[in-house]
Amino acid sequence: MALERTLSIIKPDAVAKNVIGEIYTRFEKAGLKVVASKMKQLSKQEAEGFYAVHRERPFFNALVEFMISGPVMIQVLEGEGAVLKNRDLMGATNPKDAAPGTIRADFADSIDANAVHGSDSLENAAIEVAYFFPATDVYAR
Ligand code: TYD
Repeated sequence: MALERTLSIIKPDAVAKNVIGEIYTRFEKAGLKVVASKMKQLSKQEAEGFYAVHRERPFFNALVEFMISGPVMIQVLEGEGAVLKNRDLMGATNPKDAAPGTIRADFADSIDANAVHGSDSLENAAIEVAYFFPATDVYAR
């Protein structure tokens, strides 16, 4: 498996629940390294731009409002097969369908307040990492 980088966001619901550390521990125990990180209050424009692929979906406005409802914790994770590994740690989009022991099963309340974002492909990971971090703010480890 190749060394990859993926974008992860701990969403406002999980930040409010004070579980940033517990989620970071899951990344680390799975062999993923945090190589960039920042807490940020997204603007409406930033959230709309980030989720632009969902612009025509019925949940778009609610998703943007939720993502700007409080600060988020944004990180770049690096490791072997990082994109899929992070998606496995996250669990299904709807926490009702998420496998036991996944982040969403343990910390998410609903499909719209579902604790974490993770890039869904290597191609999107590169785009999403660049959306939030200049290359100089990502630290090879
Ligand atoms: P999506 O990219 O389908 O899921 P994932 O985050 O697992 O990659 O959707 C992006 C986000 O949009 C999802 O995390 C929560 C929100 N969403 C809803 O609020 N309702 C929905 O029906 C779907 C599919 C997503």
